[in-house]
Amino acid sequence: MSEQLRFDGQVVVVTGAGGGLGKAYCIFFASRGASVVVNDLGGSFKGEGASSKAADVVVNEIKAAGGKAVANYDSVENGDRIIDTAIKAFGRIDILINNAGILRDVSFKNMKDEDWDLIFKVHVKGSYKCARAAWPYFRKQKYGRVINTASAAGLFGNFGQANYSAAKLAMVGFTETLAKEGIKYNIISNVIAPIAASRMTETVMPPDLLALMKPEWVVPLVAVLTHKSNTSETGSIFEVGGGHIAKLRWERSSGQLLKCDDTYTPGAVLKKWDDVSNFSKPEHPTGVADFVGLLEQSQKLPANEKGEEPDFSGRVALVT
Ligand code: NAI
Repeated sequence: MSEQLRFDGQVVVVTGAGGGLGKAYCIFFASRGASVVVNDLGGSFKGEGASSKAADVVVNEIKAAGGKAVANYDSVENGDRIIDTAIKAFGRIDILINNAGILRDVSFKNMKDEDWDLIFKVHVKGSYKCARAAWPYFRKQKYGRVINTASAAGLFGNFGQANYSAAKLAMVGFTETLAKEGIKYNIISNVIAPIAASRMTETVMPPDLLALMKPEWVVPLVAVLTHKSNTSETGSIFEVGGGHIAKLRWERSSGQLLKCDDTYTPGAVLKKWDDVSNFSKPEHPTGVADFVGLLEQSQKLPANEKGEEPDFSGRVALVT
């Protein structure tokens, strides 16, 4: 029996699919029986200009190989039009890959509102608009698969990318919430931080390294996560590229509980600092801490070791 993961009869929308990772996803899904909407605005990597050529080239390549694809040239900011293309051409949507992206790298000192806003429009608003338009279809048919695209810059920060980092980490919170809201309807959402050779990375990485980072090597994980056989891996964050696949998760220190009375001062916090940041007994939370339970426990504690006298009178404290 063939072990191929197939997507026959399914409709996949890939944004920013005129090149790089998006193109690799499209070619793969079409080769496995899916009908594909190849969306691309066709601008520069800085988000300037537009052209239908990028999407057309990929559609032609898929059709020439016997696959099914249509082009869409809208900006992801108009995600509803992209999803409409899927419905008009193929009558449904099953998988959404929010992949479109641009860069506006500049040191924070020199960052302009325009650099910030454009990055948020494309990455955050674009992903929202596409997912929002697909959501009613996913709910109604009790089936949907979403991949959002973060970045190592979003998870860890990167020089010159304050705008991009903030937008890319937004993809994590967005995905975690979609996962929680969608699971009841068999809508599975995951977020990847890929690494691959593309026009985005070709100017910042040496050719020998780029040769080891084929976009095609991000595709298998995306296939596994979006396949109908995946019914439980949702809300997860993955690093993927160059053969490496790893899952990331949040870690919470066991923390420190302080008594909430007038001994709860900055000095009391400082006295417990080593415990606050001690990760020797970590938790891996998927939700907020149990604040009600913790508050009850904290009330039972003895007074804190203050380290300083509290004064909430508003008087300017004298240096002692
Ligand atoms: P790419 O530049 O080859 O592909 C991005 C595509 O998005 C382009 O074809 C571009 O025309 C399209 N696009 C840009 N703005 C658009 C808009 N408003 N509407 C529709 N299409 C639009 O770059 P690559 O590397 O393939 O990037 C794909 C995704 O992966 C991006 O979200 C990027 O931020 C992310 N990423 C890539 C990494 C890498 O190592 N290549 C690293 C981390 C994240």
